[in-house]
Amino acid sequence: MANTILIGAQWGDEGKGKIIDVLTESADLVVRYQGGNNAGHTVELPSGKYILHLVPSGILRPGCRCVIGNGVVVDPVALVEELQGLERVGIDVAGRFFISDRAHMVLPYHKQLDELREDLKGVGKIGTTKRGIGPAYGDKAARVGIRMGDLLNPALFRARLKDRLVEINDIFRAHGWEEISDRKLADEMLEATESLLPMITDTVAIVQKALSDRSGILLEGAQGTLLDIDMGTYPFVTSSNTTSAGACSGAGLPPHRIDDVIGVMKAYTTRVGEGPFPTEDQDLSAHFHGMGREFGATTGRPRRCGWLDSVALRFSSQVNGLDRIALTNLDGLDTLETIKIATCYEVNGRRIDQFPADIDTLRQCVPVYEELPGWGEDTSGCDDWNALPENARAYLARIEEITGARVTIVSVGPRRDQTMFR
Ligand code: IMP
Repeated sequence: MANTILIGAQWGDEGKGKIIDVLTESADLVVRYQGGNNAGHTVELPSGKYILHLVPSGILRPGCRCVIGNGVVVDPVALVEELQGLERVGIDVAGRFFISDRAHMVLPYHKQLDELREDLKGVGKIGTTKRGIGPAYGDKAARVGIRMGDLLNPALFRARLKDRLVEINDIFRAHGWEEISDRKLADEMLEATESLLPMITDTVAIVQKALSDRSGILLEGAQGTLLDIDMGTYPFVTSSNTTSAGACSGAGLPPHRIDDVIGVMKAYTTRVGEGPFPTEDQDLSAHFHGMGREFGATTGRPRRCGWLDSVALRFSSQVNGLDRIALTNLDGLDTLETIKIATCYEVNGRRIDQFPADIDTLRQCVPVYEELPGWGEDTSGCDDWNALPENARAYLARIEEITGARVTIVSVGPRRDQTMFR
């Protein structure tokens, strides 16, 4: 397998978990490189439905090695729980799951700060998953973070935690909250994470070895391009680089060793949390929710739904350098008579086709739509590309025109066998 980056081309929840699972059949190593347990990657197998938050989806393939890279922020307690859950259903991770010693930790105070900041923002809140992701990345950038490798040296871990809690307790006092005892928290964390210690290692060495052995590496992105801290709808974004560029820094491999960038996109658009979403459509949201679709895997929140957006997709294709596209949820459109695609935006009497950096401008953008005929056929049982309804194939061709990338995978349901390749 080529060294492949798989990213979300929209606002997250594109169905990356399923596509990663399908691709891991031929990958030797799967690396998560950003985000944390704000992600929820759903994989449906004959043995059951799995929702992975931190552990790479490759873990469901026996023999596939998995890494949590340096770019991820790890809530160690949540990770222990996730691993226990996998163990309970007979998935053995021993000897094939590794955690970067450079990965930063999400500690309980990060979650409290996440909640506090959201509350203070009031109506302007981001709508975070409240998993402490922003505050943990904030500490990393401010150089006051605590890393997974610190757990391997308890004295050092205790000292770093004590230092960090000076400022944290200042904040807590100011809000009338109970102060955190550094000793108590250190004891709790060291006890809770004991089972992780054998897995914490320099994962850059594992990635480099895979490169020199020419083993296929699959870099598993979380969230989506428009939630990228640099390229997304700032400040309504997550706190990491979700675009393909983030894969190299977050896993420890050079850009020239990447062979293939796959963008996963839904056949329509969804977004969870707050922030501008030009093609959002209440009727379409009601349509999907009525079908029992489009509820968040991590928080259960109903997702906001809308039409395909060429302006956003073109931008996504450009910044990620998409080589190809995996399109998911095509079957979600099966019953629609007409399908809309935004071709450009109208703002202040002007038409634009470049995705604006400024959210105030984006909020004023009115999509200009083209309409395509639906196909009115159930595609969920379709297993042959050429047997897809003609109008569905025309829709795929239009997506290729917009993005300049070839659609090579189409998914029409959650199961592995509901996937077509070209
Ligand atoms: P945070 O990553 O929890 O800080 O949340 C920031 C924004 O990213 C919010 O709008 C979240 O809803 C969104 N977000 C975070 N993780 C995901 C995800 O895995 N899928 C979709 N949206 C996400």
